[in-house]
Amino acid sequence: MFEYAPAPESRDIVDIRPSYGLFINGEWVEPQSEERHKTINPATEEVLAEVAWAGEADVDRAVQAAAKAFPAWSGMPGAERAKYLFRIARIIQERSRELAVLETLDNGKPIRESRDVDLPLVAAHFFYYAGWADKLAYAGFGPDPRPLGVAGQVIPWNFPLLMLAWKIAPALACGNTVVLKPAETTPLTALAFADICRQADLPPGVVNIVTGAGETGAALVNHPGVDKVAFTGSTEVGRLIARSLAGTRKKLTLELGGKAANIVFEDAPIDQAVEGIVNGIFFNQGHVCCAGSRLLVQESIAGDVLEALKRRLGTLRLGDPLDKNTDIGAINSAEQLAKIRELSEAGEAEGAERWSPACPIPDRGFWFPPTVFTGVAQSHRIAREEIFGPVLSVLTFRTPAEAVEKANNTPYGLSAGVWTEKGSLMLWMASRLRAGVVWSNTFNRFDPASPFGGYKESGYGREGGRHGLEAYLDV
Ligand code: NAI
Ligand code: MG
Repeated sequence: MFEYAPAPESRDIVDIRPSYGLFINGEWVEPQSEERHKTINPATEEVLAEVAWAGEADVDRAVQAAAKAFPAWSGMPGAERAKYLFRIARIIQERSRELAVLETLDNGKPIRESRDVDLPLVAAHFFYYAGWADKLAYAGFGPDPRPLGVAGQVIPWNFPLLMLAWKIAPALACGNTVVLKPAETTPLTALAFADICRQADLPPGVVNIVTGAGETGAALVNHPGVDKVAFTGSTEVGRLIARSLAGTRKKLTLELGGKAANIVFEDAPIDQAVEGIVNGIFFNQGHVCCAGSRLLVQESIAGDVLEALKRRLGTLRLGDPLDKNTDIGAINSAEQLAKIRELSEAGEAEGAERWSPACPIPDRGFWFPPTVFTGVAQSHRIAREEIFGPVLSVLTFRTPAEAVEKANNTPYGLSAGVWTEKGSLMLWMASRLRAGVVWSNTFNRFDPASPFGGYKESGYGREGGRHGLEAYLDV
């Protein structure tokens, strides 16, 4: 039996300051709010840095800086704006190892994922939207589509730098200026991005970063100087924002929760499907809005699939996120861990059967083993609510019609996966699934050219691709 030797990525490449101010008008400024909080490494509970929690006066200052920068930025020829975006994209590539380590330290995700998935996609988004900046007249929104003004953007903690890229790249390409608030548990890569804006000589005020929690986010989205709000996070907060913006002139896009079905038909290649199931729910500890958290497997192959899945889960390595061999990193926060535990306990209490592979759990930090529930009924909380953790609920079906019925039996509609070798069945399913993205014989695959977004309680508006421009243009 071969054992893996430890293969830790060095953290020396990142330089974390003990304390950060706010990034407003191209400068680091001291907040007027006295509130400061620590951000920790969820794998060790070690304090990484202290950040400011911006108050209303700080948010106001940031929005004013963005408003002041807007006329020159929006008036600049698109080809000139593109140069800045290309420059940012190249700096991200050059600094990608450093940013990947920083993301892993602050978020808990495996370095393998931050290095191979998050960072390449972050750079790709900036490259992609840089390419649109001088072609907006050909994007299908009329000969001279205009930007909206100041965008207030609030993002979550699961893909901190990637969600920043999804928000900032299209906003800037279209000529808007932004104030972005990262999540309270993962502010560090957004603060590193502020330095990248300076390195790229981005005009002051075009990008402003204010750190803080829900109150800072609320101050930002409700600020009268904000023309467009983009939010990614929980459905609960999305609903609050929709309510407070109703009746204002602000444009709003919401990317909220999900409870995606990953549907495996009996003719699917099982080994490949098992990899897709694992990637669907255990990628990023299941902290993924489009995670394949409900496995719908055709009854005739359910036994075989579950056996292969359990065998595969026994080989996943949970532990130090900086180790290059780690598959499952830390849960992002104590709060999120409590939520995953609570829902898993509800699953058992409601009668589903719980299984996890033997898996040593580190003494410090926040961890949850990969978990599979079988015997799940559609009425169970673990089949209805977003767990946002490494927990898979398994249900079965007999016919394609039953698979569609069960897959769509959710208040959400962000994504779905279908595994079959039959092209006709694939298309039949895709046209009936009420989900913004349907993956075919793959899962959790992202591309900046491809629009992403939800139906129903998963939100509205699209990010990515040509469609993603629409959210930042007056059309
Ligand atoms: P959250 O929705 O509270 O946080 C997301 C962002 O919104 C953070 O930056 C937060 O500071 C900000 N925020 C919170 N309250 C706000 C308000 N009233 N106005 C404006 N901004 C506000 O999500 P949280 O509490 O971190 O996680 C709770 C649950 O939400 C998770 O367990 C998960 O199920 C879900 N979630 C879903 C995400 C997704 O991408 N679908 C992302 C994050 C969380
Ligand atoms: Mg919250």
